[in-house]
Amino acid sequence: MTVLILTCEQDVTADMVVARLDGTGVPVVRLDPADLPGGVALSGEYVHGTFRGHLSAGGRLVSMSALRSVWVRRPGVPATRVAEASAWLTEESTQAFYGMLRSTGARWMNHPDAARRARHKPWQLHLAQRSGLPVPATTITTFPQAARDFAERFPDLVVKPVSGAHPQEPPRAVPTSRVAPETDFSAVAFGPTLLQRRVAKRADIRLTCVGDRLFAARKPVGPDADPDEVDVRFAVSTAPWHPVETPPRIAASVHRYLQDAQLAYGAFDFAEDADGIWWFLECNQSGQFGFVEIETNQPIAGAVADWLSAPGPDPAISNGQLHFTECPG
Ligand SMILES: Nc1ncnc2c1ncn2[C@@H]1O[C@H](COP(=O)(O)OP(=O)(O)O)[C@@H](O)[C@H]1O
Ligand SMILES: [Mg+2]
Repeated sequence: MTVLILTCEQDVTADMVVARLDGTGVPVVRLDPADLPGGVALSGEYVHGTFRGHLSAGGRLVSMSALRSVWVRRPGVPATRVAEASAWLTEESTQAFYGMLRSTGARWMNHPDAARRARHKPWQLHLAQRSGLPVPATTITTFPQAARDFAERFPDLVVKPVSGAHPQEPPRAVPTSRVAPETDFSAVAFGPTLLQRRVAKRADIRLTCVGDRLFAARKPVGPDADPDEVDVRFAVSTAPWHPVETPPRIAASVHRYLQDAQLAYGAFDFAEDADGIWWFLECNQSGQFGFVEIETNQPIAGAVADWLSAPGPDPAISNGQLHFTECPG
């Protein structure tokens, strides 16, 4: 039974997992859907009540019925490397490729439907609350007056994108920034704005979850760090990430969150306050883990490899099907 990895050619994190899989004897096929059709080819038929399909890539042929798991890492958009690319060919290729993979019994990290739904930050906040995680007071609004009222109730705020990275080529992270006192909120009318109470944090926490295995890492904020320097990704701090224990209540809530979201993988960001409370900021269903592994030596790539190569169906998903109670949007 084969592990299928969907990612672009240059992906060091995928390399780390492939290196772990190499020792297991489990066959691995790695491909980029951007190379379909061409370097990647597919064929499938629905005849006599059964589906049979296969994929070929890099001179390897794999039967879809032999797929154990699919890791959706950093796949390119189908049909973007052909001589005559078009939106139509991309849609056709996407439907054929992912539609067939959905017809298999493979376990997904993460299933595209679950991944798509999990990207919505407002939904993440809702699910975090429902899972029992502390969530800093947040508003998302296009009413300038609502923003002003919120700033009166919570005078120390940050602003960040509702949707995450800016979709330019290559995508650009938009830093979370502190809102200055006396800010004029009239521009809020031009686009949904996410305002959140700033957590006066003593550390940032990255909790990487692989199946039911949790890897928490902590990066302390220096005692004389500038409070305007909010976003850990852009901070000048040189303090490394180091491993920490996950508090049991957080672990229970995180398991509930991942189960409800039907995610096999999630990278949570928390802000730890002076009382040691971990405030939920987001759960990135495709969050990077390479930098954490390198700094902490936590065996995250190995855990991903273990999950992908484990036999049997996904324990979180009955009959290999996902069930949604809410519209993925
Ligand atoms: N309310 C907050 N209080 C303190 N720091 C925050 C807050 N929200 C975000 N940050 C910082 O900004 C970083 C990015 O914010 P995050 O919510 O993870 O959004 P995204 O990564 O989608 O831009 C966090 O990892 C954290 O360092
Ligand atoms: Mg983040």
